[in-house]
Amino acid sequence: MSALSSPRSFSAPARGRVPAPSQADLLDFARRTAADTELIDSLPLDPEGRTWVRLQGPGGSEAWLIGWPPGTGTGWHDHADSVGAFFTARGELKENALAARLPTDGWKTLELSENVDRERRLPAGRGRAFGRHHVHEVLNESTEEHAISVHAYYPPLPRIRRYSRTGQVLRLEHVERPEDWQ
Ligand SMILES: [Fe+2]
Repeated sequence: MSALSSPRSFSAPARGRVPAPSQADLLDFARRTAADTELIDSLPLDPEGRTWVRLQGPGGSEAWLIGWPPGTGTGWHDHADSVGAFFTARGELKENALAARLPTDGWKTLELSENVDRERRLPAGRGRAFGRHHVHEVLNESTEEHAISVHAYYPPLPRIRRYSRTGQVLRLEHVERPEDWQ
């Protein structure tokens, strides 16, 4: 009897799990999206603060188009257990990052060793991917130009842990849930 199942059910797509997007997939998405000039030009820009538009990322990832007025930045943070990527479409971003794998939970302050700081300049046409627990801050240091970038994270809706930093001491200030961070 089962051999006589209808063509419709026979040809139905398998409901398998979609593989999780890799860092390379997220970076590729961010690169392609940053090249979509119509989309990039559609982002409203505000000289007073960052602007956001949510995008449909690949494989169920969370993606955002972000406008950065001159002099704005994120402050130190990480995306906990999510991996991510971002790509600059306009202007230039700077990323300050820690080249150290930090414990995710169970601490309030950490004294960083010397030589853990890394700086990257990401002008339009450049981006990067990052792994879990990547601690960074992203800035538009320009005094004149907006920057626009595309960001993608997987798993989506990551926790964002925010830190203050005094010299080599990093202090966990609070953990934001996705609903807090627009
Ligand atoms: Fe980030």
